[in-house]
Amino acid sequence: MFTLHLDDFSLEHFLQHYWQQKPVVIRQGFQHFVDPISPDELAGLACEEEIESRLVYRKDGEWQAELGPFESYERLGERDWSLLVQAANHWSPQVAALAAPFSFLPKWRMDDVMASYATPGGGVGPHIDLYDVFICQGSGRRNWRVGERGNHRQFAAHAALLHTEPFEPIIDVELLSGDILYIPPGFPHDGVTIEHSMSFSVGFRAKSASDLLSGLADHLIDRELGGALMSDPGRPVHHEQGRIDAGDFARIKAHLRTVLEDDALLADFAGSYFSKTKCQLDLQELEQPFVEAELVAELARQGLTRIGGLRCFYVDQTVAQGVCYVDGERFEFGAAGRGAVLALCDHEHLSHALLKTWLRQPAFLAALTQWVNGGYWYFED
Ligand code: SIN
Ligand code: CO
Repeated sequence: MFTLHLDDFSLEHFLQHYWQQKPVVIRQGFQHFVDPISPDELAGLACEEEIESRLVYRKDGEWQAELGPFESYERLGERDWSLLVQAANHWSPQVAALAAPFSFLPKWRMDDVMASYATPGGGVGPHIDLYDVFICQGSGRRNWRVGERGNHRQFAAHAALLHTEPFEPIIDVELLSGDILYIPPGFPHDGVTIEHSMSFSVGFRAKSASDLLSGLADHLIDRELGGALMSDPGRPVHHEQGRIDAGDFARIKAHLRTVLEDDALLADFAGSYFSKTKCQLDLQELEQPFVEAELVAELARQGLTRIGGLRCFYVDQTVAQGVCYVDGERFEFGAAGRGAVLALCDHEHLSHALLKTWLRQPAFLAALTQWVNGGYWYFED
């Protein structure tokens, strides 16, 4: 259980003055911080095929980056390297717990928790992220420099490593265990480890219009939607063969607008798109699946926990019909299922008391049983 302490400001103050606007150091944001995962456990995760990991190091002064899985780390020596594991919250419930203190931001904005281990001198070099990131310092000490947002030239220091040119720091601090550095997108930064160090980056990524439109196009194609053709009955005689005139341009825009103004369609798109995970989930199907009555009985004994990184959302536009989206899939439980959907999506832990009323609804109970059998929620014992 991690609790965020903001001595100098309230969450409201943070959101109004810093979020997306400027970097800030939150000293002892986590008091008495204990690493949720050890360097050895992290190294173990990076040996797994399905887990995204990277090694970044310098050899003869040149930056090097390698993608995992890795078999050993001995060749790397004592200095100047770091190991990064993407979406460590998908594989370690303890790392997943680090997302909870940031629930003052909506989950659909959150990306994942990256965990990194670095030896003295180690880091990934000066770079710019497209993310808002809360870098939570674990054990060890690390120096962080952050520059002003601006037109910084970026270049490939290695085929897999985008760096930025040296920058003037507006923040130059040593982070100790429990300190948090918040950096909005676009601010160049560079963390150099002073002594063996663990860092946990809780990242929030916003999508670009091109990301959203390409996601929407995939959504339409996969569901065979948006196939209606543009039409132009009653058009006047056209004279200039090369011209797309203002009337036709307005028709093209209006045709696209019919898709963009269809709230039910866009709600389905947003729910499916944002609930899909980028990195693999640690799904373990049950060898002995529950039948529904057994599931209810077990739930009375102990609560269910959502696996790390699983994304479940509802959208205001369609929640009245009991619609929710779990890992990219749409589910609809009808108007009476609205409460079930709120309980499911707003809570990481599902107790019998929380779900009691909704377990009487056959469609919801059937879906819940399927999710538990598929490994999306689990009983801890
Ligand atoms: C790291 O943990 O080494 C990199 C974090 C970052 O700069 O985003
Ligand atoms: Co960064």
